[in-house]
Amino acid sequence: MHPFLPLLALGTLAHAATSSLDGIYTLVQRQIPDHANSFAFSLTQAYGDTFVLSDAADGNGIDIQCSTVSACARGLYTYLTQYGHVDIWWTGSRLSQLPSPLPVVGTPVNGTAIVPYRYHFNTVTFDYTAAWWDWDQWQVMLDWLALRGVNLPLAWVGYEYFLIQVFQEVGLSDEDISSFLSGPAFQAWNRFGNIQGSWGGPLPTQWVDSQFALQQQIVARMYELGMTPVLPAFTGFVPRAMSTLYPNASIVNGSQWDGFPTDLTNVTFLEPWDDLFGKMQKSFIAKQQAVYGANVSHIYTLDQYNENSPYSGDPTYLANISSETFAALRAADPEAIWMMQGWLFFDDEIFWTTDRISAYLGGVSGNDTMIILDLYSEIYPQWQRTESYYGKQWIWCELHDYGGSIGIEGNLPELVSGPTQALAASPGMKGMGLTMEGQEGNEIVYDIVFDQAWSPTPLNITAYVESWVSRRYTVSPLPATAQDAWTVLSTTVYSNNVSYATTKGIFELEPAISGLTDGFLTLIPYDTNTTIVPALQNLIAATGENPALLTVPEFLYDVVNVARQLLANRFIDAYDTLVSTYNSSTATSAAITAAGKPLLSIISDVDALLWTNEYFLLPTWISSARGLAGGNSTYADYLEYNARNQITLWGPDGEITDYASKEWAGLVGTYYYQRWETFVDYLANITASGATYDNTTLHEEMLSIGEAWDAEIWSGDWGVNGDTMDVVHDIVSTYIDSQ
Ligand SMILES: *[C@@H]1O[C@H](CO)[C@@H](O)[C@H](O)[C@H]1NC(C)=O
Ligand SMILES: *[C@@H]1O[C@H](CO)[C@@H](O)[C@H](O)[C@H]1NC(C)=O
Ligand SMILES: *[C@@H]1O[C@H](CO)[C@@H](O)[C@H](O)[C@H]1NC(C)=O
Ligand SMILES: *[C@@H]1O[C@H](CO)[C@@H](O)[C@H](O)[C@H]1NC(C)=O
Ligand SMILES: *[C@@H]1O[C@H](CO)[C@@H](O)[C@H](O)[C@H]1NC(C)=O
Ligand SMILES: *[C@@H]1O[C@H](CO)[C@@H](O)[C@H](O)[C@H]1NC(C)=O
Ligand SMILES: *[C@@H]1O[C@H](CO)[C@@H](O)[C@H](O)[C@H]1NC(C)=O
Ligand SMILES: *[C@@H]1O[C@H](CO)[C@@H](O)[C@H](O)[C@H]1NC(C)=O
Ligand SMILES: *[C@@H]1O[C@H](CO)[C@@H](O)[C@H](O)[C@H]1NC(C)=O
Ligand SMILES: *[C@@H]1O[C@H](CO)[C@@H](O)[C@H](O)[C@H]1NC(C)=O
Ligand SMILES: *[C@@H]1O[C@H](CO)[C@@H](O)[C@H](O)[C@H]1NC(C)=O
Ligand SMILES: *[C@@H]1O[C@H](CO)[C@@H](O)[C@H](O)[C@H]1NC(C)=O
Repeated sequence: MHPFLPLLALGTLAHAATSSLDGIYTLVQRQIPDHANSFAFSLTQAYGDTFVLSDAADGNGIDIQCSTVSACARGLYTYLTQYGHVDIWWTGSRLSQLPSPLPVVGTPVNGTAIVPYRYHFNTVTFDYTAAWWDWDQWQVMLDWLALRGVNLPLAWVGYEYFLIQVFQEVGLSDEDISSFLSGPAFQAWNRFGNIQGSWGGPLPTQWVDSQFALQQQIVARMYELGMTPVLPAFTGFVPRAMSTLYPNASIVNGSQWDGFPTDLTNVTFLEPWDDLFGKMQKSFIAKQQAVYGANVSHIYTLDQYNENSPYSGDPTYLANISSETFAALRAADPEAIWMMQGWLFFDDEIFWTTDRISAYLGGVSGNDTMIILDLYSEIYPQWQRTESYYGKQWIWCELHDYGGSIGIEGNLPELVSGPTQALAASPGMKGMGLTMEGQEGNEIVYDIVFDQAWSPTPLNITAYVESWVSRRYTVSPLPATAQDAWTVLSTTVYSNNVSYATTKGIFELEPAISGLTDGFLTLIPYDTNTTIVPALQNLIAATGENPALLTVPEFLYDVVNVARQLLANRFIDAYDTLVSTYNSSTATSAAITAAGKPLLSIISDVDALLWTNEYFLLPTWISSARGLAGGNSTYADYLEYNARNQITLWGPDGEITDYASKEWAGLVGTYYYQRWETFVDYLANITASGATYDNTTLHEEMLSIGEAWDAEIWSGDWGVNGDTMDVVHDIVSTYIDSQ
């Protein structure tokens, strides 16, 4: 505690955050209108982010004293969750269920953030999860963030609006620019310089304009809620035509990304010592500041080598790149701080030797000048190998949820102990954050990180899970079996001390006779029968004890999710049987067809299960995309193609096929079903004819199924179908009881 520091001293953290309380009061009005006048916030002078919760002196309502607006929101959240026993989830806000009269606090309670920055989002989350979000969805998300105490969110939406103007200023034609920009579902990788250009049609002007309008709302709301948005900057990635236009400019091509053809990758990069770079940076930031405000943020996201190899590995070259990049940023904004994702140091560890990392980071002088996101801290932290990024500020981040996969998995013990240990060991650690690729499922592993950011000692997981479950399932009495389900999950699949970051069901992958079950995204590192099975049985038993659970959306979500995982895991057994049947010396075509039947039944059963819950529907993804077209069907069809292609072929020709696959009703029952049906037929056919297994022919066949599926327009149901518990009871009798 440093009680005499004036509020301005907090500026050392480069927070440009607001000190107006208006935003927090309007958050209360939005989320808990019935208690809009029951909360009184007052800003106090204190070092860091801290709050004190107490009952109002006159006995009416709750007082929250707080040192920052972010701490005010966190103070409110602490009251709502710990006293009111309500929460806001990814499946929706239940805060309006706060009881009346309000529960009393009793002895005042303090809270203090253990780190100055609480960070959220990965560049790719903007596509895997938020691609089609409208303002309503953003509003819920921003309240979710504010309440958890996040003060440093990434804000990428609408980036292209100013970028296009900057490109036009240097003389690039509309055609040049259009050949550079990627489609709405793929902008993250264009912003990273991994890909350029579009498939399925050029990026429409409507998209650019409407995303820019959305970003203005997002940035204003972030600011109002006490956050410092991390804003984009000019990265150096430019249209190919830049070399023709400026033959003497310092321009190189980047590396090829994930099998994309040269015209869609090898992105052209303007080296930062070229005068044009500084000019474009200055113009970009000036435009951005003119619209969002000059002091809304001085923190910029800027990644040049994320899955993109530098032109040269010479440390002098790397130091020069970063030094000149930073100089250009500072020339545009004298208070600029450069944030980058540290994924490259893990992903391309062979290239990024400590000498090279040290040169690249060392090119930027000072330590407060950069923030590195240690992107995968819970499994492959890089801060130790880099001597805490050689003194730069860094943030401990949880990654998880690759491509939006929702396999049940996590490591709660590491999530509570990792950050506090790192903080003790590394003075440069200034934050904790979530950098999940997609944001859905496994919510507990995300919640616990932001709660740990306000606890100096590792949270007690047993107590944490108990409290989390009791406010997730807002019924009274809450059956003990509901808690038992989570005791099983939290001590097994969520205490998983092996190296994974979620798993996906293998039926989501392109069928093949080998290679599906040993990928690091598909290994199931636990015994389903002693984990998922008792968890599901306990959840079902709980509905017998208190049927009111069936009215709780989060409970139904969890039932569907656990049953979904059971089926995904049982599919592996069925698949193994099919493979051994095919490989047996006495294999017949009939035996293969018979062994294939259980696989197709599981896929149909997964689809039927998912249709019963609104959070697992392909049509939601498609209708959100189409909904942004405002009734223009050409534009809507284009958006639907983007939406479909991302979750299936991911590229015009299946470049990273199935990476962002989804267990969604409508996708499982059509696309995955058709692929596996074709696969079983194929194995039966070649067994009958004596032909050899030819993975190239098979792959071509699968690709054509994908291309046809991507070109379709959804004509099925748009909403839920069937009753969850009916389907779940059938699943139990088929996949647990009868075996
Ligand atoms: C809680 O905050 C109050 C008011 O700032 C302060 O007087 C008290 O010492 C704090 N208590 C703890 C345990 O930090
Ligand atoms: C590029 O450099 C060459 C050689 O120095 C010079 O002759 C030429 O005029 C320059 N071109 C442009 C467009 O600046
Ligand atoms: C980059 O790649 C394109 C396409 O192959 C090529 O035409 C161009 O010359 C390359 N530019 C540089 C600077 O190497
Ligand atoms: C594209 O990148 C790959 C990998 O770095 C490289 O081999 C190839 O030459 C590049 N192509 C062009 C045209 O730059
Ligand atoms: C931004 O803040 C600086 C002080 O850090 C101040 O000098 C400047 O006037 C502010 N700009 C605007 C537009 O508010
Ligand atoms: C970086 O390299 C360029 C081109 O060789 C050179 O002009 C510039 O002075 C260098 N900058 C630094 C900071 O070394
Ligand atoms: C930055 O941090 C490193 C490592 O802790 C330290 O050696 C160096 O003196 C610091 N530099 C500045 C400018 O504070
Ligand atoms: C953790 O919480 C549980 C449940 O409240 C309690 O029984 C246990 O003693 C606590 N463990 C520690 C180490 O405090
Ligand atoms: C509909 O969208 C398409 C594609 O973006 C666009 O070319 C066309 O002008 C739009 N039509 C109308 C009537 O706005
Ligand atoms: C299997 O053989 C049947 C009968 O010849 C044929 O109709 C079908 O297309 C074949 N399927 C595959 C996947 O090869
Ligand atoms: C086919 O199998 C070979 C050998 O396992 C492998 O190298 C190749 O990538 C596979 N091709 C396809 C299209 O899966
Ligand atoms: C799991 O349970 C199923 C169904 O009861 C059974 O068929 C299977 O053998 C069990 N697996 C293990 C590893 O015990």
